[in-house]
Amino acid sequence: MAKNKAVSRSRVPTHVAIIMDGNGRWAISRGLPRLAGHRAGTENLRRIITACIEFGVKYLTIYAFSTENWGRPREEVDGLMRILEDVIDKELAELNKEGVQLRHIGRLERLDPKLQEKVLEAIDLTKNNNRLVLNVAFNYGGRDEIICAIQRIINDGVKPEEVNSALVSRYMFTAGVPDPDLIIRTSGELRVSNFLIWQGAYSEWYVTSVYWPDFDKEELRKAFDTFAKRDRRYGGLSQTDEE
Ligand code: FPP
Repeated sequence: MAKNKAVSRSRVPTHVAIIMDGNGRWAISRGLPRLAGHRAGTENLRRIITACIEFGVKYLTIYAFSTENWGRPREEVDGLMRILEDVIDKELAELNKEGVQLRHIGRLERLDPKLQEKVLEAIDLTKNNNRLVLNVAFNYGGRDEIICAIQRIINDGVKPEEVNSALVSRYMFTAGVPDPDLIIRTSGELRVSNFLIWQGAYSEWYVTSVYWPDFDKEELRKAFDTFAKRDRRYGGLSQTDEE
């Protein structure tokens, strides 16, 4: 019964980040509008959040809307905004009960003020939860995040010799969150797409051809099993090489 197979907790990544790609193709292949794919992707996200809690993941970062996604047709952009609003309206109470702490990475400024307020309220409501930290990357871009960090570092009058990796990490939207151990990209594209380009320096990647709406708990388990076999060397040597 592969579906009920657990992954040993010691091998589960602490921080998983996901590029939820393939919603559009999933919909088109069924003769549906692209937004139906995003809706199916959202339902799947709900299932994957639950699976992450069950597996013992502590941080989950999802790429929901990039700084480049503003270039999509108006209808799709509006639809993605509505999805964020619906998720907060319909799922927040349950997520809160499950111990999920909601965080946002990216810039809220360009969003409708009412939606901004909703996001901030959701963050405030869940701020003391600690079962799973869910970072929602919305209007997020890795380059934009680095630019924003540089601006704030300069504004704070940090001296050049004080700039180091730990300091820069503290200026990222993800401050206080460990770097992702595993980045998953669905739908087979071999691109970073401006996602966590600072934080992902030593992340392991897992790419699958499965479209996001079909990436279920069993697919997640496969990703974790693959991750468990990786030899993470961070540019050094593996333990067996050193012996
Ligand atoms: C990429 O698929 C997916 C997105 C741009 C949006 C992802 C959003 C969700 C799954 C909804 C969850 C959202 C929130 C706010 C919690 P694509 O459209 O690029 O697919 P394609 O490459 O097949 O066209």
